[in-house]
Amino acid sequence: MTAEDETAEGEALVGGMVNAGAVFRHGALVERPAPRTAPALHAHLLALEEHGFDGTPRPIRLTADSREQLTFIPGDVALPPFPRWAMTESALRSVGSLLRRLHDASAAVPVDACAEWPRSLADPAGGTMLCHNDVCPENVVFRDGRATALIDFDLAAPGRAVWDVAMTARYWVPMLDPTSAAVLHPAGLDAPTRLRILADGYGLSTQERAELPGVIEQATASCRAFVAERVADGDPTYTRTLSEHGGWQRWDRIQQWLAAHRESFKAALLK
Ligand SMILES: Nc1ncnc2c1ncn2[C@@H]1O[C@H](COP(=O)(O)OP(=O)(O)O)[C@@H](O)[C@H]1O
Ligand SMILES: [Mg+2]
Repeated sequence: MTAEDETAEGEALVGGMVNAGAVFRHGALVERPAPRTAPALHAHLLALEEHGFDGTPRPIRLTADSREQLTFIPGDVALPPFPRWAMTESALRSVGSLLRRLHDASAAVPVDACAEWPRSLADPAGGTMLCHNDVCPENVVFRDGRATALIDFDLAAPGRAVWDVAMTARYWVPMLDPTSAAVLHPAGLDAPTRLRILADGYGLSTQERAELPGVIEQATASCRAFVAERVADGDPTYTRTLSEHGGWQRWDRIQQWLAAHRESFKAALLK
C-alpha cells in the first residue's frame, strides 16, 4: 500500500466497477455504499452464518449516510488481467464447491419476499432461494489457492441454483469465445473441460447439467441487457469498458459462440 492509498477514509479497495472508488478498508472493517436491499441482505447473511456458512463477510452496521460496514476478509482476490493462479483447475473446482455451500445454506433461509431485490441480473424464472448472481473473480476471496469467501452481494436476488452456476461459469470458465477470453484470461483454457470441472466442484445434478448450457445463454443475454441499461443511463465506466472491449460486436460474437458450442458443452457435462 502506498501513502496515497491511505486517506482519512481508509485504504481504498479496488476491484469492482459499480462502486469503484467508494469501497474502503479500515483495519478489520470494510465500508462501502449500502445496496437498497441492505437491511434484508444483512439479515440474510447473518442467517447464513447461523446455518454454518462462514464464506461471507459479516455485516456490522448501516451508517447514517447510507453506507454499510462489513468484516474484511483477509486473502487474495484476483483482479483483471486474471492471474494464472486464479484460473487453475483446482481454483475453479473450489469456486464450484464454495457456491454449493452457499446454496445449501441459502436454501435453508427463507427469502424476504418484501425486499425489493434487484432485477438486473436476477433469474427471470424467479425462485425461493437467494442467489448471489455476481460470482466474478473480483468477488471471491482465496486463501491457499482455494476459494474461501464470496463478497459483494449487491445483485443478490431469488432464483434457481442453476442460474447462479451459469453466471459463475460465465466468469470463471470463462464462457467466452477465444477472442474475448484472450483479453483478460490466461491462454489455453478449454471451455468444455472447465465447465465440467465447475459442475463437478458444485455437484450439479444430471438434470441441471442438461439445462446449464441453455441457462448460460439466457444469463449472457441478461448481462448484455444490464450493460445496455448502464450505457443508456450514461454510466461512464460501463460506456468506456464496452468500447474498449469491442462494443456490441463482442456480445454478438459471444452469443454466437455459445449457441454454436451448446452440444459440446452438454456432452462434456454429461459424459
Ligand atoms: N469484505 C471484504 N473483504 C475483503 N475484500 C473486500 C471486501 N469487500 C471488498 N473487498 C475488495 O474490494 C473490492 C471492491 O469491493 P466490492 O464491494 O466488490 O465493490 P463493487 O461493488 O464496486 O464491485 C473487491 O474486489 C475486493 O478486492
Ligand atoms: Mg464487486
